[in-house]
Amino acid sequence: MESTASAGNGEETSKQKKNSGLFKVSPYMVIPSRVGGFSLYLKQDDNFVLYAEKGELFTDAHKERLGKLDVDHLYVKTEDYAGYATYVQDNILDLLDDETIPVRERARAWNDATVSLAREAFTKNLPKSLDRRRFKKIQALIHNSLKFFSRDDALKELSRFIKDGSELFHHGIGTMVLTIIVLSSFVKNDPDLLVAVGIGAMLHDIGKLELPESLFTRRWDNLSQAEQGMIKSHPALGVGICSSLPLPQETLQCILFHHEREDGSGYPSGAVGKLLPSYVKVLALCNEYDNLTRHESGRKILTPFEALTRIKSMRNAHDEDMLKRLIAVLSKAEIA
Ligand SMILES: [Fe+2]
Ligand SMILES: [Fe+2]
Repeated sequence: MESTASAGNGEETSKQKKNSGLFKVSPYMVIPSRVGGFSLYLKQDDNFVLYAEKGELFTDAHKERLGKLDVDHLYVKTEDYAGYATYVQDNILDLLDDETIPVRERARAWNDATVSLAREAFTKNLPKSLDRRRFKKIQALIHNSLKFFSRDDALKELSRFIKDGSELFHHGIGTMVLTIIVLSSFVKNDPDLLVAVGIGAMLHDIGKLELPESLFTRRWDNLSQAEQGMIKSHPALGVGICSSLPLPQETLQCILFHHEREDGSGYPSGAVGKLLPSYVKVLALCNEYDNLTRHESGRKILTPFEALTRIKSMRNAHDEDMLKRLIAVLSKAEIA
């Protein structure tokens, strides 16, 4: 389970959960005229007091009272986590748009909503294909995020929450945010394309779920040719997992071609840059950057500057114009 609207670090959250079975959420998550599928508690001295019952309609009075009480946090029982995550997902558009909520709290809410969806999508126990209900939720979430992503400070605030985490879905989220923001620097007024590419970026490595995890923790040079071949099959396996979904062409291309390179040295097709759509080039680059800067066992994590230097040194692997755009986006967010 991921943390919460207002919890501190993950360690603190799990300690807290062990102690009380409750996790912190921000009072900003109480939206008047919405119903919460979770009970909310206040902490008074050392006791948790019921503030709003599951299924109760939140009202302006609820919100005002919270303002008067000056509470920093509300609490939700861990068993209600799914209800809380669904509530944030369902109301994300209002939350992201609400200028009375500090941007950081909105970024945190976005992360809560997205992590729970992405984690579900990448769960191995599910039937092999991703179901339509989950897919539709991801599609809606990305669509509802576009306006927030277009803010100048979005990446800076979001990166506080999305830069950590070594699981496949964390990498999917990090790559998706960066890909959409870089793509938005030259794709204007085409939300359908941004959403289609965003879904492809989030799910680009989902085919890895069908391969033994141990393959991905070893160095490429130490793998046999057959093992390298298995790794190279993950884009096609990913398309297979998503085959029952009504995916746009652009999403499928993102999943299938995210390891292609400008000079034709990539896989699976070995197509050169001029044959690749620009959104695939953006994804290929942001995927590389996220891989280099994200913690993964057995590999040294690079700083943003080191990662960009490494990418620059991989001559002709990535499109130069896209790299300039990535650098511009990162420096605007004060990341590199
Ligand atoms: Fe990949
Ligand atoms: Fe990847």
